[in-house]
Amino acid sequence: SPDIPLANVKAHLSQFQSIASANGGNRAHGRPGYLASANYVKGRLDAAGYTTTLQSFTYNGATGYNLIADWPGGDPNQVLMVGAHLDSVTAGPGINDNGSGSAAVLETALEVARQGVNPAKHLRFAWWGAEELGLIGSRYYVNNLPVTERSKIKGYLNFDMVGSPNAGYFIYDGDNSDGTGSGPGPAGSAELERVLQGYFSSIGVPTEGTDFDGRSDYGPFIAVGIPAGGTFTGAEGIKSSAQAAKWGGSAGVAFDRCYHRSCDTTTNINDTALDRNADAIADAVWDIAVSPPSPGT
Ligand code: PHE
Ligand code: ZN
Ligand code: ZN
Ligand code: ZN
Ligand code: CA
Repeated sequence: SPDIPLANVKAHLSQFQSIASANGGNRAHGRPGYLASANYVKGRLDAAGYTTTLQSFTYNGATGYNLIADWPGGDPNQVLMVGAHLDSVTAGPGINDNGSGSAAVLETALEVARQGVNPAKHLRFAWWGAEELGLIGSRYYVNNLPVTERSKIKGYLNFDMVGSPNAGYFIYDGDNSDGTGSGPGPAGSAELERVLQGYFSSIGVPTEGTDFDGRSDYGPFIAVGIPAGGTFTGAEGIKSSAQAAKWGGSAGVAFDRCYHRSCDTTTNINDTALDRNADAIADAVWDIAVSPPSPGT
């Protein structure tokens, strides 16, 4: 599977930062920085050959947008979706939350185009609006999908905060194998967890499960029975000494001290964590949809 260029992912983060700076310091639902962010991502995807749709919805008296991008080809009855929320809170530019997931998913989509991939399964990428107000955009998408279209989505991979400065390496615990928190998710979620784990074990990075509690845009998907998975490098939680021993960084300090704050800027990113997660996204997309093992092998 491909090595996603970290410099390209970081260039998207610089664009999100510039967009926020030019639009009152944020990229929040209903603010001009949100639509500018959506148009930036859409422009890159359109130029690469994607079929894109801006889906609008209304929330809190403001128009919000989901950006959906389909890569032509693949089995239309077996769709893999990969997504990230593109909105920030109003307090700041939202570069780790969630410029990081948005940029890593975008660069994976652009890698698909650069390689002229002819995938086995159909690939659909999504950037959600109004996640910060309660998963509004992703819920709107799922709830407005015809049931026949819904049944074609075989999995959804979500990336929300994948460059936390004091990073942990968490994978959504789709099978609740650690027995804490919530889960298990729909059958198939465990397989997505295993695929992501497989990448991190291949690079020798230990991971932990994180509660599959619906605290990001996979929530509406699992609510209708679609298997989901994803990674996370931590938010307001505090890194333990055991976690600092295996991952590095600072014990007793939040994974992201700038979570939902004005200091969530381009300096609030751990390049190593962002690079590993971008490569993990691409690896999962390739393993599941581009070149899956053929049946019987
Ligand atoms: N969804 C949370 C936010 O955007 C962050 C989060 C992601 C929390 C994944 C837990 C798990 O603020
Ligand atoms: Zn890389
Ligand atoms: Zn957030
Ligand atoms: Zn988030
Ligand atoms: Ca669990």
